[in-house]
Amino acid sequence: MCGIVGYVGNRPLIDTLINGLKRLEYRGYDSSGIAFIENNEIRVIKEVGKVATLLKTISQEIENTEFSATGIAHTRWATHGEPSHRNSHPHLDSKGNFAVVHNGIIENYAALKGQLMAKGCKFNSDTDTEVIAHLISELYEGDFLKAVAAALKQLNGTYGIAVISKFHPDMIIAARKGSPIVIGVGNEEMIVASDISALISYTRKVIYLDDNDIAVIKKNEVDIRNIDIIPVNRELAHVDWDAGAAEKGGFDHFMLKEIYEQDSAVVNTIRGRINIEEATAILSGLGFNPRELASISNIIIAACGTSMHAGLVGEYFFEDLAGIPTEVAQAAEFRYRNPIIRPDTLVIAVSQSGETADTLAAVRESKNKGALVAGICNVVGSTIARETGSGIYLHAGPEIGVASTKAFTCQVITLLMMAVKFGRSRRLARNRAIEVLEEIQNVPALIKETLKSAPEIERIAKKYSGIDNAFYIGRGYLYPVALEGALKLKEISYIHAEGYHAAELKHGPIALLEEKVPVIALANDIPGKDKILSNMQECKARKSPIIATATIGDLEVQNIANDVIYLPRCSEYVTPIVTVIALQLFSYYVARERGCSIDQPRNLAKSVTVE
Ligand code: AGP
Repeated sequence: MCGIVGYVGNRPLIDTLINGLKRLEYRGYDSSGIAFIENNEIRVIKEVGKVATLLKTISQEIENTEFSATGIAHTRWATHGEPSHRNSHPHLDSKGNFAVVHNGIIENYAALKGQLMAKGCKFNSDTDTEVIAHLISELYEGDFLKAVAAALKQLNGTYGIAVISKFHPDMIIAARKGSPIVIGVGNEEMIVASDISALISYTRKVIYLDDNDIAVIKKNEVDIRNIDIIPVNRELAHVDWDAGAAEKGGFDHFMLKEIYEQDSAVVNTIRGRINIEEATAILSGLGFNPRELASISNIIIAACGTSMHAGLVGEYFFEDLAGIPTEVAQAAEFRYRNPIIRPDTLVIAVSQSGETADTLAAVRESKNKGALVAGICNVVGSTIARETGSGIYLHAGPEIGVASTKAFTCQVITLLMMAVKFGRSRRLARNRAIEVLEEIQNVPALIKETLKSAPEIERIAKKYSGIDNAFYIGRGYLYPVALEGALKLKEISYIHAEGYHAAELKHGPIALLEEKVPVIALANDIPGKDKILSNMQECKARKSPIIATATIGDLEVQNIANDVIYLPRCSEYVTPIVTVIALQLFSYYVARERGCSIDQPRNLAKSVTVE
């Protein structure tokens, strides 16, 4: 995600834009920039890093920041093109007549860029966004709105944009398709932004654009059209959030917001990557041709924490669907245990931040031993992404909560797409591959369905919020989820929770079970369910309360468990997703009931950049 702000009115422009960017910085902070009209020309100032860095540069370059004018600004969370000065927004056309800021992904930018370059357009960045500025310029014949509409019609993908032109200094044109844009309506002033946190301190009267809307924004009027320039009517809404809540999209914590945005995060992860016709996944960032894929002899997944748990699910995927021997290595252990790596070993580094020192060390060790290396990261241009040189970005948007949630879900989906792709270069049948790909396409709907259980999960969480210990048990695809659920509870509620394979409990840990030690049993209807029912009986016989996850309609489980969280029926490959969301919510509500610091738990950091 990125943050966009635009202002037209009589306030000091720089202060207004910078204040807006600061409120949006949670959406991304790789780089930031502003563009405004000064002496009938467009001036652009941008910097790598946080908004504070940009402000420092502005104060060095502009003496009087009190002037009012029309301007736009952007804080970037990189998708295409690493974080750098040249890739920072705003972007200009070759003549400097138009400036654009953009949030979203233009999927056909490469083709458009080739066409524009053939016409003589000079590109200054690696971003998809810059294409929009050149397109508008090429299509401009005096009518700003017409040029923007014509340009947008050529774009595939998603956009939330704001555009200014030196020919029309009194207006901003904003448009949306898939990425939010909201307009704050003031008194002789308008502020346009990615979300209300940037404008709530100026006005509570807002207009939300719908997909394919284009708005011509002047300080005393907003004219909204559709992509065919036909007028459309959008209601004026009133916002009653306080500014602090607005940054979190109305949620009390970033973690809860990120739990609830997992459906859209998965949409972004799979966008443009599922090819039903070819019965495969398009993962061009991997850079392996089918022959190289077929020659991979074994896979080692190196990761830490939640990413390692996602890797454990991936291990099952690769062996089940692709028939490739796979193991998961705790990244810190990897390089000290002298791993056996052959030239056709593929090491996959999984890391949300792309900066985890232990995982980075595993990447370097793998490269030193001549392995094939790929990364699965969420932060574009991160160190692991750059050093692996091959891999897949999650495109899940910034994950601010220290407890990882949407990254896990998107990592699992990415690993499943990889397993299908690898399998299709081997023995995975076309029809089986199509079945799995269609299940992946249905995951956002399943996530929405799962989130409807939140009130019941909250009730159960409150009931058990006073515990000091807990066990999570699972089998098969749900064994890694048991580990992940225990980690979530540990890290945000400070309860001692352990994840175990359900069969392992009776080999010692069962000695710890008693009435005040609940067991969270993952009993969804997948292979091995009958065995976990027996394990639940063993725990019940030791007086442990049982909280179970189960598949909707399964009545067997409730005969054993004290409390049941019912989840949508789905294939075993997708069950980790619906189940982990229930456990994320469970840990969130327990922690909230205990008054813990959920987004920044004690002793933790979002990215562990030390060994
Ligand atoms: C998960 O909730 C934790 N924040 C932590 O285990 C995290 O997953 C781990 O540090 C790995 O981080 P990475 O994915 O950025 O490499």
